[in-house]
Amino acid sequence: MDKIVIEGGVPLSGEITISGAKNSAIKLMAVCLLCDEPLELTNMPRLRDTRSMGELLMSLGVQVETGPGARMLLHAKDLSSTTAPYDLVRKMRASFNVLGPLLARCHKAKVSLPGGCAIGARPVDLHLDALKTLGADIELSEGYVIAEAKGGLKGADITFPFISVGATEHTMLAAVLAKGETVLNNAAREPEIIDLADCLNAMGAKITGAGRSEMRIEGVDRLHGVSYAVVPDRIEAGTYALAAATAGGSVRLLNVRSEHLGALWPLIAKAGTKVTMDENSVLVERLGTPILPVDVETQAYPGFPTDLQAQLMAMVTLANGVSIIRENIFENRFMHCPELIRMGANITVKGREAIIRGVESLKGAQVMATDLRASASLVSAGLAAKGTTEVLRVYHLDRGFENIDVKLGNCGARIKRVSE
Ligand code: UD1
Repeated sequence: MDKIVIEGGVPLSGEITISGAKNSAIKLMAVCLLCDEPLELTNMPRLRDTRSMGELLMSLGVQVETGPGARMLLHAKDLSSTTAPYDLVRKMRASFNVLGPLLARCHKAKVSLPGGCAIGARPVDLHLDALKTLGADIELSEGYVIAEAKGGLKGADITFPFISVGATEHTMLAAVLAKGETVLNNAAREPEIIDLADCLNAMGAKITGAGRSEMRIEGVDRLHGVSYAVVPDRIEAGTYALAAATAGGSVRLLNVRSEHLGALWPLIAKAGTKVTMDENSVLVERLGTPILPVDVETQAYPGFPTDLQAQLMAMVTLANGVSIIRENIFENRFMHCPELIRMGANITVKGREAIIRGVESLKGAQVMATDLRASASLVSAGLAAKGTTEVLRVYHLDRGFENIDVKLGNCGARIKRVSE
């Protein structure tokens, strides 16, 4: 299995082009199931997760063509199966989202309960409750969801008990072809939700209010094919901004929607890093100034994203003082802490809070993480640490960061991928 080896202590200097958003891309891929015409996605990231989703779609009868460049063509002319098997769904939680479109188009589906990152229990009760409200009969049997909607799904009023990105997207994917109007209350407001609505609307769907808590979806009879560009990845952009703030140096991020990281920039600035924005790029600079402590709690968008919590923590392990980070979204998302402690960080976890007392330096070590974003925080810590850091289980990084070693290497980082 590959590992990433980093010789730390070198400030970053250069430019990084941000890829299309993983979290958006995999839901946009599921859109193809709703339509018998081709869906072309551009600005697609090349990731293990998009490959996994491609494999799952192919098993359902979708023609999937990748390339050239960041392009993917998906054509679900005729579906040959409505069963998504465990072996394919377990690789990535978001692949569970094929259930809604299959139900909408074929009125039946059998989809394995999901796997994915080990960051907490992550049930799918909200997804299933919403699909039931849209008229689906749902049964759980031997690890599978068996769903049927005789005569098709019907629009309904749905109020989510708390905000869920996945459940909001899943319900959108089902409701676009339902009969009548669906109203979603307490919907998630992430940029990826807007991206999904924009793509569906470009195909003929009638969605209003995406990006607000109340969204309305007027069902249509059919969707048509389209070419659509995936939104830039705000989490990838935030990860490299925090890497520059942690290791020091000057990095210009290209192909960024800086407004999608409104909760990050003030925190980075407060921590002593200069951020300069122009229309399509952001310059992040920390040139010899110390890192200052910051307190933060994760929240649904537009709050501070849980997907940047681990990377922010890596930065404040080196701050000049004490920081407190509270994780509100997932109950088990501090698995990077023991690994950062192995590198010399001073972190105490109490329930949902981590107290981080800044240390003067980190020291390279062999580390591993069991989730995607946590692995990125270890890379960031490794860039700043003295000596050699080896990040094991690189497949987590490959799930969500396109060419992380190449992108950082182009900024002068001494980083390489080693096959064992
Ligand atoms: C998505 C993102 C993930 C991000 C998360 C929160 C993708 C592929 N993943 O995950 O990177 O960290 O949003 O921004 O887009 N929950 C339930 N029941 C449900 C659904 C969710 O209890 O049916 C809980 C989860 O366990 C979690 C919370 O709700 O504690 C929020 O999860 P959710 O917003 O659904 O996250 P995901 O869509 O899984």
